[in-house]
Amino acid sequence: MILEMRDICKDYAMGKNVTHVLKNVDLDVEQGEYLAIMGPSGSGKTTLMNLVGCLDTPTSGSYNLGDRDITKLTHRQLAEVRNKEIGFVFQSFNLLPKLTALDNVALPLLYGGVRKSERRRRAAEALETVGLSDRMDYRPDQLSGGQCQRVAIARAIVGKPKMLLADEPTGALDSASGEQVMELFARLHDSGATILMITHDRSIADHADHIRFIRDGVLSGGAGNE
Ligand SMILES: Nc1ncnc2c1ncn2[C@@H]1O[C@H](COP(=O)(O)OP(=O)(O)O)[C@@H](O)[C@H]1O
Ligand SMILES: [Mg+2]
Repeated sequence: MILEMRDICKDYAMGKNVTHVLKNVDLDVEQGEYLAIMGPSGSGKTTLMNLVGCLDTPTSGSYNLGDRDITKLTHRQLAEVRNKEIGFVFQSFNLLPKLTALDNVALPLLYGGVRKSERRRRAAEALETVGLSDRMDYRPDQLSGGQCQRVAIARAIVGKPKMLLADEPTGALDSASGEQVMELFARLHDSGATILMITHDRSIADHADHIRFIRDGVLSGGAGNE
């Protein structure tokens, strides 16, 4: 098991009121699995994604990623887990506009302390994997939305993370580009990647091996099957 969450709760305090956003969530992701979590707007998807991605910490419950107990890590250790063990793909790409595709992809390696020639070599390799070898020197404003998302996917895989985490990865794309991103995920999955994808769109979720549903902060359907 790569990821194991048990009895995760996330509350937000709003003045005197407490909102229970995630309620006793159990989530397992196995090595090599491709899982989609589906739910309507406001159901807690992004909150869950932020916990899985170590961008936020739960109110209660346990979370193990690889062999680490995430709830016991310091801020600095969490930042290292985000850099080394998780590849993020966001709806809005989150590329730096002034950097070329190559430099955007190399950025996590820069933060990870990898030397320059090695960064360039690995970033070029990741761009080749996503089919953008001929766009390495283009900036985001010189690329289409679909190409930007493929650059973002190259950036997500360049550090060889334990898991890819995608929040509405096709949400900002036309359907043809979205389909290309889904083909790319399928190819990465075939070559061994572990993928957790969050979406409200059934036709996107259907690309995963399994779908689990979240509603009002309750994640249903254990054991990886719907
Ligand atoms: N920082 C916050 N403070 C208070 N409530 C929040 C906060 N973040 C999210 N929520 C609430 O949690 C619920 C789930 O939000 P979210 O995880 O963004 O849902 P989704 O991504 O499924 O649309 C919503 O009702 C939202 O208002
Ligand atoms: Mg959301």
